[in-house]
Amino acid sequence: MMTIPAETLRLWLEEGYPVTILDVRPTTEYAEWSIPGSLHVDAYEALKAHNLEALSSVTLPTDQPIVTVCGAGKMSQIAAEQLAARGLQVYSLEGGMKAWSLAWNTAEIAVAGSAVQVIQVRRTGKGCLSYVIGVDAEAFVIDASLDPQVYLDLASQHGWQITSVFDTHIHADHLSRARQLTAKTGAMLFLPDQQRVSFPFTAMRDGDTLAPPHLMLTVLHTPGHTSESTCYWLRNRVLFTGDTLFLTGVGRPDLHTTQEEATAGAEALYHSIHKLLSLPAETVVLPGHSSQPVPFDGVPISTTLAQVNAQIEMIHLTRTDFVHQLLSRLPATPPNYDRIVILNEQGLLPEVPMTELEAGANRCAIS
Ligand SMILES: [Fe+2]
Repeated sequence: MMTIPAETLRLWLEEGYPVTILDVRPTTEYAEWSIPGSLHVDAYEALKAHNLEALSSVTLPTDQPIVTVCGAGKMSQIAAEQLAARGLQVYSLEGGMKAWSLAWNTAEIAVAGSAVQVIQVRRTGKGCLSYVIGVDAEAFVIDASLDPQVYLDLASQHGWQITSVFDTHIHADHLSRARQLTAKTGAMLFLPDQQRVSFPFTAMRDGDTLAPPHLMLTVLHTPGHTSESTCYWLRNRVLFTGDTLFLTGVGRPDLHTTQEEATAGAEALYHSIHKLLSLPAETVVLPGHSSQPVPFDGVPISTTLAQVNAQIEMIHLTRTDFVHQLLSRLPATPPNYDRIVILNEQGLLPEVPMTELEAGANRCAIS
């Protein structure tokens, strides 16, 4: 049986190598998260029953490899065997969508009027967005959600050395790799001021500015999603909004155990959003998540505050109506969020494979 590691498929997609991806999971799972550009046939039950006609209705190209995909890489092997019997060149994705959760791609953003370059690192398999900001020979990483080596390689390809690592908040949907990245690089670790984590860091407070030559990163405390949530404003032009503000929605008040806490979080978020909207309208917004799988197209996921103002209707509600609407639309909490939060507060990575804990789509936005 021919299989393909997720990293190889990632490289094929990055290089534009012709490949057809056939996802055989149940429709509900495919609808929640998928590989960009993949075809889908709901063949899971038929394959499980070893029905040899499971894929007979699917027409596939004969001039390029086919990669079959399922949740964990088992049913996709049966699918691959059936397609191989038709004479097709087929590979089954090793570890399925769980392994794919670590796949990523990039897009570059130029910062007008400066030598600063921003790379948006998109964890397409999960929707987490992290950033490498490069200037001169230095790089600054925000919200690292992938293996430190990914950031080290990107920095070295650009001739940068990673000197500072930031998180916008204590994450609940993925394991932060910020601490690991600082351990590997010797970089400084900057976190919003809070008493939640039990390891050393440099606290960032509202109004602080980091000013290595050409950088100018201003800290804006924007509570709501979490009490310590913070946005970073680069050169008064580019705003890294974490899980406070997205392209078409706002963050969710995260991890509140009581209705009073959730209401207080939503009220804080209302004020934080309006604080951000007071910045120049042309400010470029770079969020911490995408709610869709990110294509390998090199197109940045970004917007401007002017567009946010025009497109997100709920930000124009009164505070009371905003809170009411936000709380009525809260999505289900992400899977394993309580364990992920504890590990992020301890600065530890789990003994089980990280993809086991991080499985599933992110559910950070309300729109
Ligand atoms: Fe978050």
